[in-house]
Amino acid sequence: MKKEQVVNCQFSVWYPLFKKHTIKSLILPIPQNVIDYLLDDGTLVVSGSENNSSQTQINHSDSDEEDVQWTDDETTTAVTAPEFPEFNIKVQEAINVLGGCVFPKLNWSAPRDANWIALNSSLQCQSLSDIFLLFKSSDFITHDLTQPFLHCSDDSPDPTINYELVLRKWSELIPGAEFRCFVKENKVIAISQRDYTQHYQHIAKQEASISSSILGFFRDHIQYRFPDEDFVLDVYRDSSGRVWLIDFNPFGEVTDSLLFTWEELTSGKHLTASQTQEDTTLQDGPAFRYTTSEVTVQPSPCLSYRIPRDFLDLTTGEDAYKLIDFLKLKKGQQEEESSDEEEDES
Ligand SMILES: Nc1ncnc2c1ncn2[C@@H]1O[C@H](COP(=O)(O)OP(=O)(O)O)[C@@H](O)[C@H]1O
Ligand SMILES: [Mg+2]
Repeated sequence: MKKEQVVNCQFSVWYPLFKKHTIKSLILPIPQNVIDYLLDDGTLVVSGSENNSSQTQINHSDSDEEDVQWTDDETTTAVTAPEFPEFNIKVQEAINVLGGCVFPKLNWSAPRDANWIALNSSLQCQSLSDIFLLFKSSDFITHDLTQPFLHCSDDSPDPTINYELVLRKWSELIPGAEFRCFVKENKVIAISQRDYTQHYQHIAKQEASISSSILGFFRDHIQYRFPDEDFVLDVYRDSSGRVWLIDFNPFGEVTDSLLFTWEELTSGKHLTASQTQEDTTLQDGPAFRYTTSEVTVQPSPCLSYRIPRDFLDLTTGEDAYKLIDFLKLKKGQQEEESSDEEEDES
């Protein structure tokens, strides 16, 4: 994979070319002070400055000491999120133009590994502080910011990147209708169900029509129009059978190969046309893979990024009863300790 391929997959490179075939989006340049804030992995402040009482702090310290610090506004200095008034106004205007709810991304990635931290457990955002919470909690966002050219084979200096906040109109996408297409020399060589952790019955039944609608979309709107001949294309097939473009990704290790392996994809060997052996109609088409019922359904690949729900409820104060239980427990412990001390003294 070459650095150039990564550069070409940035949202602002492909969006103007394929606007008509994808979800409406707006791109905002990110000021340097906001990038610095995103990269600063100190204290994470969840809420905006207007409401100090609901602030939550998660301290990412490496020590074994208590990780959660219960702060009391009177006794400790609460760390407030830096404010970016001008940027905030631009973001809010863009969110309004897009209908009030957006899906946020950086040049390449969405914070898919951080959805668990949001109160709604979703990537749906309505304000800059919603976006900050997700971005600051996401390793995928950090990857975009710190090592976008990881796995690139050329040793030319890294191209300069202008960081951009991508806001996409929120759309409820059905995971079973998302597919990833691997394109080599401007030909689709493989198609995989995107959410491979689940078995979707309709895919096996409609394999031929899904494959032909995706290939038709590719031929009519994508082929020879993207600045590279090798790339990975994510698409969505809506309930009326219309195909939409979701994203472009580099053809290489940084992109998840889903139900294929990169070895298969790069060697081109062992890629049989159709998963259904009897189906001969697809013999000349790309390999098409989906999760069948015989395969054990797998856990979500982002699970390892999470912390226990109970802990999260505590830190966000979402479940007041858990917090009360926790405080009672603490109080009980303290009383026990002090009575132990008294016993020792006597
Ligand atoms: N506009 C949107 N509204 C709601 N969900 C979306 C939107 N765009 C993408 N998604 C969901 O988020 C997932 C990741 O989006 P994608 O743009 O491919 O990010 P990444 O490149 O980081 O994986 C998609 O598979 C889709 O399920
Ligand atoms: Mg992508």
